[in-house]
Amino acid sequence: MPEGLSADQAGGIAERVLRWQPVHGRHDLPWQGTRDPYRVWLSEIMLQQTQVATVRHYYTRFVQRLPDVQALAAAEPDAVLALWSGLGYYRRARNLHRCAQVVVQRHGGVFPSSAAELQTLPGIGRSTAAAIAAVCFGERVAILDGNVRRVLARALGFAEDLAGAAAQRRLWDRATELLPRHDLPRTMPVYTQGLMDLGAGPCSPRRPACSSCPIATVCVANSLDSTGLFPVKTRKLKRRAESLWLLWAQTRDGAVWLQRRPPSGVWAGLHCLPGFDSREALLAALGRVFGADDLGGLEDLPVVRHVLTHKDLHLHPVRVVLAGDAAPGGAQPLPGAWQSARQWPGLGLPAPVRRLLQQDG
Ligand code: ADE
Repeated sequence: MPEGLSADQAGGIAERVLRWQPVHGRHDLPWQGTRDPYRVWLSEIMLQQTQVATVRHYYTRFVQRLPDVQALAAAEPDAVLALWSGLGYYRRARNLHRCAQVVVQRHGGVFPSSAAELQTLPGIGRSTAAAIAAVCFGERVAILDGNVRRVLARALGFAEDLAGAAAQRRLWDRATELLPRHDLPRTMPVYTQGLMDLGAGPCSPRRPACSSCPIATVCVANSLDSTGLFPVKTRKLKRRAESLWLLWAQTRDGAVWLQRRPPSGVWAGLHCLPGFDSREALLAALGRVFGADDLGGLEDLPVVRHVLTHKDLHLHPVRVVLAGDAAPGGAQPLPGAWQSARQWPGLGLPAPVRRLLQQDG
């Protein structure tokens, strides 16, 4: 055992988590109480970058509409994006759809039952594959998402910088050593959930509640009174600010011109108001595609700030109500289509754009 944890202490971690989770862990999450890989997989993908409180509602609605992998595989891409609209990171939704199609076409509609095979499917990384395999099939594999990394780095006093891939691999090896060794179909789901519950509960990033943590007595960081030093990670996210001018062109009866975003970048593949890098670019496009007679006056709306992981997006909506029923044309027509308010819910719209359009109605 490097890092100062004896074999007894390491063994004790699994036992303690297994005793603690059934009494103090979470049991009321809508994706618990099932070993259906479709449901566990869906919840894990939703939870990758979104908080439990938000995912609850989206997950419930998603499984009501698309209750199994066959239904998801057969759904229209826009229907899937519409169910995802507001969860962010839309690449997840596209991978989800592709993954369902692969499971149906290549695996007869049955999810593979090992982490190694699950990891070959679109959008399923090592930790997600492990979560599904541990919870649904009792496989002895370790998860290591952000929360669990913190729990284990503290418990082990893991002092290496997790910005490095080699250090991450070593922590993964240590996480594997700590896994339960007996009665895996029962213990693996409980232990896996228990680590997540510790990360979401007592072992919080800033103010861990070590007095209510079942592994505090064997936790190296706690024994050194230095939970704040773990996990060690030097690389900082550089945040950028970016502005996007949104052309909100509307007919008198309320239809809005929406176009599909490019396949990569912010809101990839979603329907959106046409976006421009500057107000000048927006006005130039407007001049090209709408005859001056059609314009009923421009209105600059208040800037909407939208926070993404890597950047702050400043949205500048510019509204124009068209006098006639013109379609954007000219030499360089604007891609997209008029969409009435009735159609918006069926389209995948970025959450801030949906809010913008709805606050108007
Ligand atoms: N975060 C990632 N997976 C989770 C799960 N199954 N339950 C709660 N939070 C999670």
